[in-house]
Amino acid sequence: KTYSVAAIPGDGIGPEVMSGTLNVLAAAQKQFGFSIDLTTYNAGAKHYLQTGELWNPQLTEELRGHDAILFGAMGDPAVQPGILERGFILAMRQEFEQAVNLRPVKLYPGVATPIAGLTPERCDLVIVRENTEGAYVGQGSTIHANTPQTVAVQESVNTRQGISRVVEYSFKLAMSRRKKLTLCHKKNILIEAGKLWQDVIDQVSELYPEVEVDYVHVDAMCFHLPVSPERFDVVVTDNLFGDIITDLGAVIQGGLGVAASANLNLDGGAPSMFEAIHGSAPDIAGKGWANPVGAILSGAMMLAHLGEERAALAIESAAVSVVRELPALAGPGMGKNTTGIAEDIARLISDD
Ligand code: NAI
Ligand code: MG
Repeated sequence: KTYSVAAIPGDGIGPEVMSGTLNVLAAAQKQFGFSIDLTTYNAGAKHYLQTGELWNPQLTEELRGHDAILFGAMGDPAVQPGILERGFILAMRQEFEQAVNLRPVKLYPGVATPIAGLTPERCDLVIVRENTEGAYVGQGSTIHANTPQTVAVQESVNTRQGISRVVEYSFKLAMSRRKKLTLCHKKNILIEAGKLWQDVIDQVSELYPEVEVDYVHVDAMCFHLPVSPERFDVVVTDNLFGDIITDLGAVIQGGLGVAASANLNLDGGAPSMFEAIHGSAPDIAGKGWANPVGAILSGAMMLAHLGEERAALAIESAAVSVVRELPALAGPGMGKNTTGIAEDIARLISDD
């Protein structure tokens, strides 16, 4: 079987972790008998500074034709903060209705976590973040700008349809796991949005009587998640809270270098996108210090999504045995560079 995949390496360490990931995917193709027809797209800071182009109609149409998108990272000190993030990453998530941002929080054996005493058995959950609405719709206004009376209003938009598709996905996911679902919100204060989220949870839960449903306020989540992650199986939450608690999740599982994510289109109308959760890390770009494991595990999530489950599992287990020998973040004392780590993982897959 052949899959058409678009690669967008982007900026900073994006191209470095992308090249490691493609190396691993090449090994997986040989070993498991499928093939990836890859097209690389030039986008990001350099392209923007040269052409003024961000997300645009031509690129949209070209990307739409692919089975999946692999994304590196975007962001550059030479570009005003927010331009590439909003103008490209958020634009893609919204245009392609990548309604679910799926982030596994899994502590792999041997990976250093800052949480004392935490073991891999106690840390295996997934966070499902609503990915297209909430406070990230980009609506709001500023009145009396640049005066002592300035008022900035930032709106959060929550629709029954938007919440329902994410909640339904989460219940299905819980059914394939430990059958436990937790809604994370702040419904005692954000009354309108919180009521709609709880309402949808209550409604959908009737179709899944086997799934145990729970609720935790987002501030309390910041306490429970690091202290007792075993309490959670599937956590579903809105866009803003999800952005925040998934970074906390990444810390617990051993840092930005190992955390993976998927941006899933649920109706098949557009491709899903897979990316490590870290950014372009301009502070270490070009040094070969970037840990490619988060990007490689995102590549494995892509293969699982495309139906190549066996290859995905092989990549995961190869990455796990390599990552246990590494510090959480790469650096000069690591003894191995980005390419070397990816090569080790690729070799393990080929030896399978
Ligand atoms: P960042 O994730 O790029 O870096 C944070 C820290 O973690 C840095 O010290 C970096 O060196 C380190 N780090 C990150 N990934 C690493 C890896 N794979 N291996 C070793 N060390 C790693 O976040 P930061 O510094 O806040 O943002 C840098 C740029 O990236 C900004 O322009 C930001 O807007 C953008 N960004 C882009 C994202 C994306 O493309 N989806 C996500 C987050 C930030
Ligand atoms: Mg974030």
